[in-house]
Amino acid sequence: MNYLGIDIGTSAVKALLIDDSGRPLGEASARTVEPNRPQPGWSEQNPADWWTATLAAVDALAAAKAPELAHVRGIGLSGHMHGATLLDAQDRVLRPAILWNDGRASAECAEMEAALPELRQIAGNIAMPGFTAPKLAWVRKHEPDVFAKLARVLLPKAYVRLLLTGEYAEDMSDAAGTLWLDVGRRDWSDALLAVTGLSRAHMPRLVEGTAVSGELKPELARRWGMDANVVVAGGAGDNAAAACGIGAIRPGDGFVSLGTSGVLFVANDRFRPNTRGAVHAFCHAIPETWHQMGVILSATDSLNWLGRIAGTDAARLAAAAAADFRGPGAEIFLPYLSGERTPHNDARARGSFVGLSPSSDLPRLAQAVMEGVAFAFRDCQRALDDAGTRMGRLFAVGGGSKSDLWLRLIATMLDVEIAVPEDGDFGGALGAARLGLCAAENADPAAVMTMPGVSRVVAPDAALRSAYVDQYARYRALYPAIEEARQ
Ligand code: XUL
Repeated sequence: MNYLGIDIGTSAVKALLIDDSGRPLGEASARTVEPNRPQPGWSEQNPADWWTATLAAVDALAAAKAPELAHVRGIGLSGHMHGATLLDAQDRVLRPAILWNDGRASAECAEMEAALPELRQIAGNIAMPGFTAPKLAWVRKHEPDVFAKLARVLLPKAYVRLLLTGEYAEDMSDAAGTLWLDVGRRDWSDALLAVTGLSRAHMPRLVEGTAVSGELKPELARRWGMDANVVVAGGAGDNAAAACGIGAIRPGDGFVSLGTSGVLFVANDRFRPNTRGAVHAFCHAIPETWHQMGVILSATDSLNWLGRIAGTDAARLAAAAAADFRGPGAEIFLPYLSGERTPHNDARARGSFVGLSPSSDLPRLAQAVMEGVAFAFRDCQRALDDAGTRMGRLFAVGGGSKSDLWLRLIATMLDVEIAVPEDGDFGGALGAARLGLCAAENADPAAVMTMPGVSRVVAPDAALRSAYVDQYARYRALYPAIEEARQ
């Protein structure tokens, strides 16, 4: 029997097929329309695009792997977190979805925290504009006509699930990022919902990531040549799904994700919030487990930005920086292009280059961008440290992990070894497929969520460490100084 993982990403939907030993059998992906930024700091996407790309990705897989797809018994979903999909009573989408990297709801965060002083305690997290509830508070205030028609709020993958199965359901790891969940109890919080004028009736049913959330509609099973009775698992938010893909489910297991956003993820045996350091403390996709994350909003996005304005791309920039690498230089970059979550929780923060001179060429700037992201990961590690979490060797995932220099900078700043998985794809789609397997076969997650082999280990560079500790101290001093000047 085979299992399908569908990962709904911000820029593409990816479908990955595995067999019952977890071996990949094929994959296909389809690009989505890039998020629209109608105003600075806003980020929206049309939910119909997720569905179009989902159909295109699975159709392509069905065309290439028809016999293998016929044996699919379980589907798992992974999706970008926090996005608010607003539906009316007929399941019509009321407005474009407001995404995870949208910072418009800062004022609403402060208002929510003032209205419910226990908010941080129940949610285990600070009210951050990226989370779902503040976005709804914004809609309630600024688009009352839309809010009046609201029947249900779904996260991106729950919307895709609705179209796949007809069920309103969401898994715990993604639900934890709404700010409506009592994360310790793994249940919606009536008090948190009430702060945004909502109730349980607006929410999907909660399921564990490894549990069955519904069955694939017969017309879709026919379209893809699958047998009847294909179950759809709860699945996971993209970071918890990536953790399932890389086998990070035991306490202390973790990874750094160098994608559009940057994530430092560590699995926990219990709920361990640290709201002071803007740590994300969420449910994991496996029952009775939790995890923490430090989240950087612009990781590869920072290098993509520099590539875009310099008429090149991130991979070339990373190679140019590596070719001419001489340790820390005069240039320092703050990667806050879209604001920052951990540790500042400041949607209005903006990026900066400091220390420019006539010899600041493109490789130097690219190096500074990569260093800035490594420093931001160090900030995340300090916040997780404060919550009592120690981390050992971390896996690296995401597009940026192709750059050895970038990994060396991160290993040096975090003072931990970074393991690069053997060739293969260990992201959200694999984790989702594994969750599909668990749901269909009632399999033990610990047996399914194994770690990949290691192709190479990038160690902290002892020769660079003290120079980078000094450079990090300069970096740390810049955010408060620049923010003061921007007021
Ligand atoms: C996590 C977060 C991002 C998104 C995008 O809190 O906002 O990692 O899930 O993929």
